[in-house]
Amino acid sequence: MISKKMEKALNDQVNFELYSAYFYLSMSAHCASIGLKGFSNWFMVQYQEETFHAMKIYQFIIDRGGVVHLQAINEPEQSFASPLEMFTKTLEHEQEVTRRFNELSDLSFVEKDHASRIFLQWFVTEQIEEEANVNEAIDRLKMVGKEKSGLFMLDNEFATRTFVAPTA
Ligand code: FEO
Repeated sequence: MISKKMEKALNDQVNFELYSAYFYLSMSAHCASIGLKGFSNWFMVQYQEETFHAMKIYQFIIDRGGVVHLQAINEPEQSFASPLEMFTKTLEHEQEVTRRFNELSDLSFVEKDHASRIFLQWFVTEQIEEEANVNEAIDRLKMVGKEKSGLFMLDNEFATRTFVAPTA
């Protein structure tokens, strides 16, 4: 059985993951509207990942005998100045997600909740890859600068990204 404190913290994280999904869906829509189909696909995959994260926590709460409490999802930003700005905001967002999972892990220690501690390890590890992916995209966008042909090449590459649900 999960403690009320951990149940509340995990429910808050379900909400934050769903907000993250919304945030990336908004960027995907923006990219589609300015003709960057590959960038739109990159953010759509990000949206799918966040939905997967939310549902992974949702299922864990149920499996532990907790109660899922769905909360209102905040409206995400809708307009962005450039692809670089979107990826910079993505990095800031993912750093906040990392901070939150570290806090959740801290709580699992305080609560002596070993099942949650082990469960949360997956997310702590996942965040390393999440931040690395975004950092790589930022580096490449900086390299490209204002060059349209470079942006076009990156757009083609981002069009090939696909969502693969993790099995472990
Ligand atoms: Fe669910 Fe991108 O962290």
